[in-house]
Amino acid sequence: MSSILCIGAGYVGGPTMAVIAKNCPQHRVVVVDANAERIAAWNSARLPIYEPGLDQVIAQARGRNLFFRTDTEAQIAAADIIFVSVNTPTKTFGEGAGRAANLQYWERAARQILEHSRTPKIVVEKSTLPVRTAEAMERILNSQPGRGVHFDVISNPEFLAEGSAIHDLEHPDRVLIGGKSTPSGRAAVEQIVAIYESWVPRERIITTNLWSGELAKLAANAFLAQRISSINAISALCERTGADITEVAHAIGTDSRIGPRFLRASVGFGGSCFRKDILNLVYLCEHHGLPEVAAYWEQVVLMNEYQQRRFGSVMLEAMFNTVAGKRIALFGAAFKANTGDTRESPALNVCRELLDERAELVITDPYALDNARADLGAAAERVEFEPDPYKAAQGAHAIAILTEWQQFAELDYEAIYRDMVKPAFIFDGRNILDHAQLHRLGFNVYAIGKPPLAHFD
Ligand code: UDX
Ligand code: ADP
Repeated sequence: MSSILCIGAGYVGGPTMAVIAKNCPQHRVVVVDANAERIAAWNSARLPIYEPGLDQVIAQARGRNLFFRTDTEAQIAAADIIFVSVNTPTKTFGEGAGRAANLQYWERAARQILEHSRTPKIVVEKSTLPVRTAEAMERILNSQPGRGVHFDVISNPEFLAEGSAIHDLEHPDRVLIGGKSTPSGRAAVEQIVAIYESWVPRERIITTNLWSGELAKLAANAFLAQRISSINAISALCERTGADITEVAHAIGTDSRIGPRFLRASVGFGGSCFRKDILNLVYLCEHHGLPEVAAYWEQVVLMNEYQQRRFGSVMLEAMFNTVAGKRIALFGAAFKANTGDTRESPALNVCRELLDERAELVITDPYALDNARADLGAAAERVEFEPDPYKAAQGAHAIAILTEWQQFAELDYEAIYRDMVKPAFIFDGRNILDHAQLHRLGFNVYAIGKPPLAHFD
């Protein structure tokens, strides 16, 4: 039996530890966070994040062998294995601003571990970090050899996607565990392997050296984001030429070397990982004197920014080049369906763009309105937040679908059309609606990568 601690009770730490605790009843799993409100929410009936299936896993393990606490120092002292899952946002200041990772939370966690450890620990890095950060972590931790406490540092990047986190954790494509090849490094890797082996087949657990583990995570996210930027680039060409992106994507995806997944053209990718990790990779390449490689990956992010701006421009142009004073309903605030997370959400970028054009905006979303309000900051005062999509659309000139919630595909658009200002517009930034039917109802329909279906030319 081991005592496992996780520092950071966010979108990664919370669900990951819940699934470990569920599958390893023999281990005690404690999750701590500096944010006491967040911990209180994890201990309540209303969890701090919306994630399908999370409630059930928490119900099974919480209080049995899963605990959410705020006494970080005592829990560090008691732990054998410490997962570090703190936030590593992009730096907004100083060297590498806008690109490099801000490691201040992560280093603070390392120093807390150092200060409060009296027995040997395995420290597992879960946050995505620049390559070779684990080495820095090990240097900090082993900086006071006189105290006789030994630390092994392991890289175990998380590949879960929000909205399907529980499924991804229960049935991962692979688990990646990077460590040093010293005897104690190898033993530490085996201890972490043993935890995952409780429910993951051994052949899906990949062990690598420390740096490969860190780089693999950055590169995997860069490849995934690159597919979306690639299909989005083609969607722009489709709109100019009359080709249909759904048909093109299907034809591309049937090549077994390419595969069909992650080829959905959209208003752009969001989420806390893709942009941050690619910019991190770009910074790393620049730092190591590889400007061509840096420029190559940066283009994935630039294309994503272009796609979001382009969506706003299509709306503006279709609506006679002015949206000032027009009520527009934004359907969706979350960066993808099945999450309340709005970090880097294209929906909020489109929202800001339309505010600049002085549109009157109303946002509807089943789970993300609170986060949207917080993320928009001062701009939120100029936006209406309405949980009911029918009310949001009342009196609107246009609807823009910005998150692919299944709920939005199932609405009664005939009733919605009746209550809108005419001519009524719909902009489907996720291609989830039946465009031909909407056109028959009277809408002017603009989708991503498809010829517009308008009632006038
Ligand atoms: C991603 C990675 O998938 C995951 O492995 C990593 O651990 C964290 O980053 P996440 O950001 O939670 O996960 O969600 P993901 O499903 O990858 O979607 C990211 C964004 O891409 C969303 O905004 C989504 O709407 C968009 N997307 C995804 C598309 O626009 N088209 C697609 O075909 C797929
Ligand atoms: P992610 O999406 O990577 O999980 P989040 O921002 O959702 O990121 O979660 C990170 C959490 O880590 C936050 O709740 C933050 O309060 C917590 N945190 C950051 N630094 C520390 C620290 N030194 N001790 C405890 N918790 C911390």
